[in-house]
This record gives sequence, C-alpha cells and structure tokens, in this order.
Amino acid sequence: MLKPLFTKEEIDKTVRGLASSIEKDYDDEEILFVCILKGSFMFMSDLIRCIKNPSKIDFMRVSSYGNAMQSKGEITITKDLEEDINGKNVMIVEDIIDSGLTLKSIKEILLERNPKSLKICALLDKRSRREVEIEGDYVGLTIEDGFVVGYGIDYAEQYRGLPEICVVEKSVRDKK
Ligand code: IMP
Ligand code: MG
Repeated sequence: MLKPLFTKEEIDKTVRGLASSIEKDYDDEEILFVCILKGSFMFMSDLIRCIKNPSKIDFMRVSSYGNAMQSKGEITITKDLEEDINGKNVMIVEDIIDSGLTLKSIKEILLERNPKSLKICALLDKRSRREVEIEGDYVGLTIEDGFVVGYGIDYAEQYRGLPEICVVEKSVRDKK
C-alpha cells in the first residue's frame, strides 16, 4: 500500500523555495545542473524551470553495487557526464540523501575535475540514516526512515510517474 507523504502542491512549493535560494546565491552566474539518474529527472526538470540563471544540464548514472567484489560505498559510473566541468559552477541534483555514500563518492569524483564550485541540491534528506559525513547545500524536505516513491523516485522501477510522494508500506515490499 502507498501512503501519501507529500502532495504535488507541497513538492511544488519546496522546489520553488530551493530554486529561489539558489538564484540568490549565484547572482547571474551560469550553473551546470548535474542530474543523478534516474530518480532525480523529474525534480531537476521542475527545478531548472524555476531558475532564471543561464544554465546547462547534464546527466550521470552510478551504481552502488558494481559487482560482488566491491564493498558498499564504492560506486561505478555507468553513465558519465558529457560536459567538461572544469571551471564551472556545478550543482549536483539528487532525489534523496540516505546513507550519503553515493553522494560522497560522486562529490569526490567531480571535485577531481576542478569545477569552480560544487554544491548539492537534494529534494529529500533522510538525515537519521547518514553513515558518512555529507550535507546537502540546498535541501528540500527532511524525512524519517521509510521507503518513498513517486515524483521520479521508484521502487523496483515502479511508481516514478506518481505526481506526489508516497511511503511504501512494508507489506508491499515483503510481497516482492
Ligand atoms: P545513499 O548512497 O545511501 O545516500 O543512497 C541514495 C540513493 O538511494 C538515492 O539516490 C536513491 O536512488 C536511493 N534511495 C534511498 N532511499 C530511497 C527511497 O526511499 N526510495 C527510493 N530510492 C531511495
Ligand atoms: Mg538516486
């Protein structure tokens, strides 16, 4: 069963708030938004429509479990950026910060490419689940532990098209 958590209106308001904070901080500078696929595609498309700065977009996809030999926390890039980020203002756009392991690794990889600045914008933050020290620079909504879907976010590739964000009740997950 899906239990509604955030309505479409609450998400819209949150995205507009994040966009206005980003606009304030960057004046008229160009920003390269890096969407972490797949979960962040809807969030990023709404976010950039609210930001007036000149902007570019790019996409990156990583897998946390490249193969059985890799320990948790090591990521494999399965789709890399096409843009050279050297000297650019880069904004990583992520759907959810959970343990923080994914973003910590992505941040390390991108910092080696010498961006002018590198910030994180996350729609949702499960702060209590953090395993490594990492913070979003622009964070929308803090949530408790629990598995959420909708607004681009999936459970086994399902539910990405829901306009609102819901919690997946444990009984649904157990049936899989
Ligand atoms: P982390 O490396 O543990 O921070 O994991 C972050 C990633 O796990 C997010 O980008 C999501 O793709 C995924 N994730 C974490 N929590 C959820 C959830 O509740 N629903 C769907 N995906 C999630
Ligand atoms: Mg993700």
